[in-house]
Amino acid sequence: MKIKEHTFIITGGLGGIGKAVAKDFLSRGAKVALFDIVPEGKGTALAKELHSTKAFYVHTDISDPESTKAAVEAVVETLGDLKGVVHCAGIAIKRPWSNDIADSIPDFIKMLNVNTVGTFVINAQVADAINKPLNHPEGSSADSASKFWTTDEERGVIINFSSAAAHGLYARTLGYGPTKAAVAGITRTLSDFLGPSGIRVNSISPSIVQSVMTSNFLGYFGDDLLSHAAFPRRPVPVEEIVRTVVYLVENGFINGEDVRVDSAWRLVTSRTPGGKDPRELAPGLE
Ligand SMILES: NC(=O)c1ccc[n+]([C@@H]2O[C@H](COP(=O)([O-])OP(=O)(O)OC[C@H]3O[C@@H](n4cnc5c(N)ncnc54)[C@H](O)[C@@H]3O)[C@@H](O)[C@H]2O)c1
Repeated sequence: MKIKEHTFIITGGLGGIGKAVAKDFLSRGAKVALFDIVPEGKGTALAKELHSTKAFYVHTDISDPESTKAAVEAVVETLGDLKGVVHCAGIAIKRPWSNDIADSIPDFIKMLNVNTVGTFVINAQVADAINKPLNHPEGSSADSASKFWTTDEERGVIINFSSAAAHGLYARTLGYGPTKAAVAGITRTLSDFLGPSGIRVNSISPSIVQSVMTSNFLGYFGDDLLSHAAFPRRPVPVEEIVRTVVYLVENGFINGEDVRVDSAWRLVTSRTPGGKDPRELAPGLE
C-alpha cells in the first residue's frame, strides 16, 4: 500500500509511537487523522504543529464503539481516501499487587477495555468504512448469491500494537500481558476475515520503546532487557518501530503476522533464592 496521498488514522496519535508515525507519514505526503483522548485544544494545537493542512486531531475514545464510528466517518467525509489505521492507543496500569488477586480486577477491566476491546472496535470501524462503498455496489441486487464480495485489489491496511509482554506472559505484566496477547489474536482472526476484502492486518510487538508510556518504568524493565535480551540489549529507538510500520504498510504480502521488534528479549521470572519475589511490584514502578 502506498502511503503518499492516502489518509491514515493513527490512534494514540499524540503518544510516543503514534506521533513519530504521524511525522513520518506526513513527510511521505500522507494525510493523518490523530485519534486520542487528550483535550481538544491541546490535540488540535499538536496536530497543527505537525502539519498545518494535513494533520487533524479527532478527540476519540477508541474503546467506545459509537464515538469511534462517528470519528471514522468524519475522517472519510472530510479527508477521503481512507486506507487504514496504525492503532497505537494503549494503556499499561502499574499498581502494587497483593496476595488478593481480585484487587487487580478493576485495573484489568480498564486495560481490557482500551487494549483489547478498543483494538476490535477501531479495527472493525475502519474496515467497515473502507468496505462501505463496495457493500452496495451499483447493479447489485438483494437476491445476489452471497452477501459477501471478494476483490483482488489491495484496499486497506491495519497495524495493531501488541507487546513483548504478550509473548512473555509472566507475573510482572499481570493483566497487561493478556490484554496484549488478545491483540495478536484479533490481528490473526481479522486478517483471515478481511482477506477477501483486500485488507491486510498485522501487529507489532515491541520490547521497550522510549516513550511517555515507558518513561516512568524504564528502571526495572531496562535492567531486565539488559539481562535477558539477546542483542541489542537496550530499548528500541522509536525510529525502528516507525520503519517497521512503514514496511508493513508497503509490503503487500505480509498479512496476519505479529512482528517482534524485541532483540529476542525473553521475559522470564527469576526465582533465584534470596532474589526479589516476582509478585512484588517491579522496582522502579513505585
Ligand atoms: N512504549 C513501549 O515500550 C511499548 C512496548 C510494547 C508495546 N507498546 C504498545 O505500543 C502502543 C503505543 O505505545 P506508546 O509508547 O506510544 O504509548 P504512549 O503512552 O506514549 O501513547 C499512548 C497514547 O494512547 C492514548 N490513549 C490511551 N487511551 C486511549 C483511548 N481510550 N482512546 C484513544 N487514545 C487513547 C494516550 O492518550 C496516549 O497518547 C501501545 O499500545 C503500547 O501498549 C509500547
